[in-house]
Amino acid sequence: MSTTTMPTRGLSIGPIDVASPVVLAPMAGITNTAYRRLCREYGAGLYVSEMITSRALVERTPESMRLITHHASETPRSIQLYGVEPNTVAEAVTMLVAEDRADHIDLNFGCPVPKVTRRGGGSALPWKIGLFRDIVERAVRAAGDVPVTVKMRKGIDGDHLTYLEAGRAAEGAGVASVALHARTASEFYSGHADWSAIETLKQTVTSVPVLGNGDIWSAADALRMVDETGCDGVVVGRGCLGRPWLFGDLAAAFRGEELKAEPTLGEVATAFRRHAELLVEFYDGDEPHACRDIRKHVAWYFKGYPVGGDVRASLAAVESLQMMDDLLATLDWAQPYPGEAAEGPRGRAGSPKKPSLPDRWLESRDLDEAFKAELAAAELHHSGG
Ligand SMILES: Cc1cc2nc3c(=O)[nH]c(=O)nc-3n(C[C@H](O)[C@H](O)[C@H](O)COP(=O)(O)O)c2cc1C
Repeated sequence: MSTTTMPTRGLSIGPIDVASPVVLAPMAGITNTAYRRLCREYGAGLYVSEMITSRALVERTPESMRLITHHASETPRSIQLYGVEPNTVAEAVTMLVAEDRADHIDLNFGCPVPKVTRRGGGSALPWKIGLFRDIVERAVRAAGDVPVTVKMRKGIDGDHLTYLEAGRAAEGAGVASVALHARTASEFYSGHADWSAIETLKQTVTSVPVLGNGDIWSAADALRMVDETGCDGVVVGRGCLGRPWLFGDLAAAFRGEELKAEPTLGEVATAFRRHAELLVEFYDGDEPHACRDIRKHVAWYFKGYPVGGDVRASLAAVESLQMMDDLLATLDWAQPYPGEAAEGPRGRAGSPKKPSLPDRWLESRDLDEAFKAELAAAELHHSGG
């Protein structure tokens, strides 16, 4: 297709008006307050936390409480919850709202990790459509005026698709938007996202925004997704790893402007350093912890730039900001943007796998008693993993 015009306005998620129809995808271990702040400094959009387990939140584990804390500059505050049990999810939502800790709550039904799907959680859960509906309805009710949204995958595999039914159920339950990562659980991150499914979902869910997700590596990709699918906004994950300025490109593109950040090596080094500083704040001044965290970002930031293997290896083992500064000082900051070498896919990829599911999970769409104990075990007790 398509006859859809590019959105010239932003995106409304319930009462929240977002200047640009762009959402930073929740990514465990990545989209903490440090990285969200950095991305926000470049662009305009909704920046969602990494997933927080509703059980751990209800138990007020120190890690969960830390992960839901926003910086004063972060508004609206957006938190993603993972849960498999309606009462626990409702309790977590009630807590967030009563304590005024979030302006938007997203529910994660897309996790393909075997330890979660093996028990019927994550992307396996919408197969049990009654349970899915129950969780979403309870969350929406508990949230009151705070908008609740849903993020999901296409289904378990090509023979067991769930997204259209789940999209309709979520719409009926009163969510403020629905986002689709256009892959099945069995695809994990392999191959290409099937954007035609986003188009089908958009035609199915008509009363709230439909957001498309999967394989946006540039602002041009985002415009193309909107054009091809008619979706109301885009969710960007791996494409922004090591490239927080992508949010500036995206905001400009949705304003109809052509702007593409082409940072010099010095500008990349500065953003990388700022990311590390923000991580030090996130870890309450624990510099060694922040340095361990930033290591995983090194390859993404410096992809395509002339940085020698030894400096890369040292940055990937950095222990202090001083050590980082000394290493960054050895680079030629005037090196220009390397073009295509710095662009394209990054982050998780991998190959398709048969999803791990509870025995006989696929035999029925109803949740029988036998699965309840399994599901209780799918209720993770830690967040952000
Ligand atoms: C490292 C990593 C962590 C992720 N963690 C979450 C998460 O906590 N919650 C969630 O809904 N999706 C999570 N995802 C999936 C992303 O939100 C997104 O749906 C997926 O990466 C596809 O979008 P992309 O092609 O733009 O990366 C994660 C993805 C990655 C790569």
